Amino acid sequence: MHNLNINNANNNNKQLMKLSNKLFLDFSNFIYYKLGINLPPEKKFLLQARLSKRLNDLKIKSFEEYFKFLTNKSGLIKELPEMVNVVTTNKTNFFRESKHFDILSNFVLPEYYKQNSNRSLKIWSAGCSIGAEPYTLAIVLKEFSENNKGSKFSILSTDISTKVLMTAKKAIYDHQMAVPIPMDLRKKYLLILLWQIMKHRILGRGLPH
Ligand SMILES: C[S@@+](CC[C@H](N)C(=O)[O-])C[C@H]1O[C@@H](n2cnc3c(N)ncnc32)[C@H](O)[C@@H]1O
Repeated sequence: MHNLNINNANNNNKQLMKLSNKLFLDFSNFIYYKLGINLPPEKKFLLQARLSKRLNDLKIKSFEEYFKFLTNKSGLIKELPEMVNVVTTNKTNFFRESKHFDILSNFVLPEYYKQNSNRSLKIWSAGCSIGAEPYTLAIVLKEFSENNKGSKFSILSTDISTKVLMTAKKAIYDHQMAVPIPMDLRKKYLLILLWQIMKHRILGRGLPH
């Protein structure tokens, strides 16, 4: 069984939070039933670590207590979205798996519009995370439509985590995130915020070229 050291903000004592195998099963069944996310037994330590953050924030002392809180009527309304925010893995990048976008531009889009010249292409970024995927798609599709007049498109972005959706909606990213975007597209589609310039002046680092 894995243990996790939790720092108690008040007295710096280390508390050990343990998630039993039985309770892990309860959580993983609940998460699968509610969210469709499969957590095999090897994810127990990961779940334990991520949920510990919620227990700490809520000052709840055991996973049993948290499970009861989560699954009662008000917990399902108030706590379930918070739990989703901590249990989901939101890794993303602009132009992540860049070959996919090359294939989209060079093969999928020409073929689609050849067969559907009057139809708008609808794309769904179902787990969009903080927005890098749908904004990459928007750039790729816009570039394609400039060279292929009449090719219309729309992009729907959804995610089960409210936290990442808020970031996606704001669409403000640290400049490091822009690095995978080709420079010509960066110049064309991105704005650099004054505070980012200031931050990097203060830290003594230049903005990426
Ligand atoms: C690893 S990220 C990938 C993000 C993006 N699609 C990419 O490839 O860069 C997976 C995202 O899917 C979301 N997700 C997981 N299950 C989901 C569900 N059932 N419905 C909607 N979004 C979900 C997670 O919250 C997370 O932000």
